Amino acid sequence: MSAEGDRPTSMRTGLCGRLGLDDVGRSVRLCGWVARRREHGEHLAFLDLRDHTGLVQCVVDGSLEVRSEDVVAVEGVVRARPEGTANPRLATGEVEIGDCRLEVLAAAETPPLSIEDRVEPDEALRMRYRYLDLRRPRMQRNLRLRAAVNSAMRSAIEGHGFCEVETPLLWAPTPEGAREFAVPSRLHHGDFYVLPQSPQLAKQLLMVAGLDRYYQIARCLRDEDPRADRQYEFTQFDLEASFVSQDDVIAIVTDVVSAATEAVTGERPEHFDHMTFEQALERFGTDKPDLRFGMELVDLTAAFEGTALRAFSAPVRRAITLAGGAETSRSRLDALVERARSLGAAGLAWFRVGVEAGEPALDSPLAGHLGAHERTGLLEATGAAPGDLVLAVAGDDRRAVCGVLGALRVELGAKAVGDGPHRFVWVVDFPMFEPGDRGNPVPAHHPFTMPNPDDLPRLLSDPLSVRAQSYDLVLNGWELGSGSVRIHRADVQQQVFDALGISADDARSRFGFLLDAFGYGAPPHGGFAIGLDRMVAIFCGEENIREVIAFPKTQSGADPMTGAPKPLAAAALRELGLAPPKP
Ligand code: AMO
Repeated sequence: MSAEGDRPTSMRTGLCGRLGLDDVGRSVRLCGWVARRREHGEHLAFLDLRDHTGLVQCVVDGSLEVRSEDVVAVEGVVRARPEGTANPRLATGEVEIGDCRLEVLAAAETPPLSIEDRVEPDEALRMRYRYLDLRRPRMQRNLRLRAAVNSAMRSAIEGHGFCEVETPLLWAPTPEGAREFAVPSRLHHGDFYVLPQSPQLAKQLLMVAGLDRYYQIARCLRDEDPRADRQYEFTQFDLEASFVSQDDVIAIVTDVVSAATEAVTGERPEHFDHMTFEQALERFGTDKPDLRFGMELVDLTAAFEGTALRAFSAPVRRAITLAGGAETSRSRLDALVERARSLGAAGLAWFRVGVEAGEPALDSPLAGHLGAHERTGLLEATGAAPGDLVLAVAGDDRRAVCGVLGALRVELGAKAVGDGPHRFVWVVDFPMFEPGDRGNPVPAHHPFTMPNPDDLPRLLSDPLSVRAQSYDLVLNGWELGSGSVRIHRADVQQQVFDALGISADDARSRFGFLLDAFGYGAPPHGGFAIGLDRMVAIFCGEENIREVIAFPKTQSGADPMTGAPKPLAAAALRELGLAPPKP
């Protein structure tokens, strides 16, 4: 809160939560909401007055003519609370306002939900009465923390010479692959604008325009089912720079994110880890590794070379170890096997490590079928000790096998760390393409990402082996943001389109304006976008980004407060050239 915000206005002398013993004797006029009221007979009453800075106790000689959540002005004198009545849990707990006179500025109905943090209101009520939900201290703190993060990032990026530019919300389709929200045109019936999934193409055009370094706190829109880390509308801290390499962009973003972290925690993160996509997959089974705990995947391929065990006959074999997990009950293990199957594994082998005759022994349905070298191989590869639990998966597809164990690792390991420290990791060298439905290459990031120059010769012959100059920033297992060096050369762009099976005509009709622009001198450039909602949610210790967005949508994409989405009147539909839905 800035000192500026603490200044008196014509209606109040100061703020509730700022008062302390230094103010004793001052006459004050405070404004806020009636948080709590208590009457002691007819002659003495207390009320807690709340504004955005906190609560202060007001003492009224007489009965109270106000109700909870009325907006009132209180005039009185600050005094120390009588001996023994100070409240150490309240910032203003050593003082109270005496001799109070009250003026009701606006009367309130009984609120449908409690404004205190101690009681968690019903989710549906929170969304329906979001303005009351936002009165709660937790939500006030979240929104203010978000503002502090924005402010720190703005000032850090401007320190790097970036210029803020606003890009359009009414745009043409962008090539990022999410379903888009369409806006019908009134003047051109049958034509639509598209709300941008991100300012991707606009910021690349700004590089062609010579802006050199652009940033924006940009609203992005994607018509994908909302969930804990996804909303229709979300905010990116978006940036793009000319004449930079991947390392330059990573250094700038590291500095900006460090500034945001410092604004929240008071300390800059000690360091950001770096690993390649391949390393992340092999060690953590995911491209979003949570580094707050170990439990890394290990390779059991050698330990089970030529095995007679059907469960391990597939070529890819990996395991994780849960320290102290040997106590896991049989029913819990059955549930884990089911979970692994639901994640796509053919099965899950478990081994509880115990001791027999002074030697580590394995308790598992498979134990009796293991050869001696397999038993030793498993214990050596995993490093498991008596008391531990080993979980192993075999299969044909390396990404799938690692992915199952990566998911189990998080489900079993992340609970223990709670909110934990902030562990940032840069993941680099992503594959350029992923296999599509028909095994055809589709862009892993977007089709304007520059391939790794060493892999260019394989672009057409073996596209799935080509690495991109793209990079993600991951925080505690959440993808915070991603970016890439972009293609600025027409010949490379054409090769990528060829690899993607996008014909010249198709490319022209979809991105002609960008290709044209690149014909007039495009600087080498690259950029990044941070998902602000996700970053702030983690800083706030929230599990759902909804808690850091003032007016979010529900899981079914609705806004119970405004009633959106709603039907449009027939006349409005006609004006847009749209037919009313059939009854
Ligand atoms: P990408 O699509 O990876 O990249 O998005 C960047 C970051 O935005 C956040 N994010 C979301 N947050 C909340 N709800 C959503 N529906 C949602 N979708 C994405 C994530 C993600 O990492 N133009 C490129 C960036 C670039 O290359 O510069 C882009 O948009 O944190």
